[in-house]
Amino acid sequence: MNQIASVPAIADQIVIRAESALDFLAREALLDRAFGLDRWRKTCERLREGRLPAPGLAFSAIRGGVLVGTLRFWSIKAGDAHDALLLGPIAVSASLRSQGLGGAMIRLGLEHARALGHKAVILVGDAPYYERFGFSRVGAEHLDLPGPVELARFLALELAPGALAGAQGMVRATGAFSESEGDRRLAA
Ligand SMILES: CC(C)(COP(=O)(O)OP(=O)(O)OC[C@H]1O[C@@H](n2cnc3c(N)ncnc32)[C@H](O)[C@@H]1OP(=O)(O)O)[C@@H](O)C(=O)NCCC(=O)NCCS
Repeated sequence: MNQIASVPAIADQIVIRAESALDFLAREALLDRAFGLDRWRKTCERLREGRLPAPGLAFSAIRGGVLVGTLRFWSIKAGDAHDALLLGPIAVSASLRSQGLGGAMIRLGLEHARALGHKAVILVGDAPYYERFGFSRVGAEHLDLPGPVELARFLALELAPGALAGAQGMVRATGAFSESEGDRRLAA
């Protein structure tokens, strides 16, 4: 798949491109290292399992042919009436953290999401990190997730002003189901 961005701030140039099925093993290994095997028990996993990422919104960061970053978004419904995306997981190889790659991937992902017509994004993560991209509790206050969540970590971002106004109730997965082995490599 074609390069869609580069990260010039990092000395050894990194390319961000659309995820490919061939990234499966490296992506899963990076996620295991970043989050541990407990990652499968996260509440957000209930919104990803058995589904494909939102079309055009799964990204891999590559340096010298090696996958060093992953970011994926998922289609959800925030309550009954509001279509949105779930951001995550995102992970960057430990040796490359704090050099701007995570931020570059998120900004790129949000830009693509907006260009594809998505109007809002939710996530569960550390507010001190995600606030810099505009995420806050606004829009998520009246939403529930299908499992335990620390409310301070349940955040939202409106890509279109007011997109989550009135959003209330359960968040549920709406993405396409993964069916084939090839699909599974693209799925969670
Ligand atoms: C979170 C993660 C993707 C950020 O990637 P990155 O390439 O290091 O991000 P950036 O370089 O754009 O930003 C780094 C800055 O964010 C800060 N930061 C990183 N994770 C943070 C967190 N959880 N809470 C608060 N700040 C955080 C760093 O301290 C650094 O601050 P500085 O710029 O003042 O030095 C990366 O640290 C990672 O893979 N972590 C393990 C997996 C994970 O926790 N994913 C997020 C789940 S919520």
